[in-house]
Amino acid sequence: MDEHDRVIGWIGGISQYRGNVWELHPLVVEPNHRNRGIGTMLVKDLEAQVRMRNGITIYVGSDDENGMTSLAGVDLYDNLPERIRNIKNLKGHPYEFYLKLGFKIVGVLPDANGLGKPDIFLAKRVVSYK
Ligand SMILES: CC(C)(COP(=O)(O)OP(=O)(O)OC[C@H]1O[C@@H](n2cnc3c(N)ncnc32)[C@H](O)[C@@H]1OP(=O)(O)O)[C@@H](O)C(=O)NCCC(=O)NCCS
Repeated sequence: MDEHDRVIGWIGGISQYRGNVWELHPLVVEPNHRNRGIGTMLVKDLEAQVRMRNGITIYVGSDDENGMTSLAGVDLYDNLPERIRNIKNLKGHPYEFYLKLGFKIVGVLPDANGLGKPDIFLAKRVVSYK
C-alpha cells in the first residue's frame, strides 16, 4: 500500500507437493513504483512465509511470449543446457530479477505459449541444505 492506501504490489504463493514447494504466482508491482525494491520486498516476505510453513522451495514460471530472451524463437529441444547457460535478456524479461534474488533457472517448458514461446522455470531453496 502507498500513503493513499493504494495497492502498489501483489504477490501470491500456491502450496504444492504437500507444502514442500510453493509456486510464486502472481507477482506484480504497479508500473510507477518499479525499480524501488518493492518486488524484492514482496519476494523476501513470501520466502519468510514459506519458511514459517516448513516449505523448502519456491518456484516461478516466467513466460517468454514476446521474444524477450534468447530462449524464445529457437528449438529448445536442441542443446537445451547450453542455451540455458548462455541465456541473454534481450528486452527486460523478469528472469534476471529472480536471478538477483538467488533463484536459479531449473528448466523450461518449450512452446508453452505457442511455438518458440517457452515458460522459464526458476526456483530457490529457502532453507539450508543440511
Ligand atoms: C518483475 C517486477 C515484479 C520487479 O519488481 P520491482 O519492484 O521493479 O523490482 P526491484 O526494484 O525489487 O528490483 C530488484 C532488482 O531486479 C532488477 N530488475 C527488476 N525487474 C527487472 C527486469 N524486468 N529485467 C531485469 N532486471 C530487473 C532491478 O533492476 C533491481 O536490480 P539491482 O538490485 O541491481 O538494482 C516488476 O517489474 C513487475 O511487476 N513486472 C511486471 C509483471 C511481471 O513481470 N511479474 C513477474 C511475472 S513472473
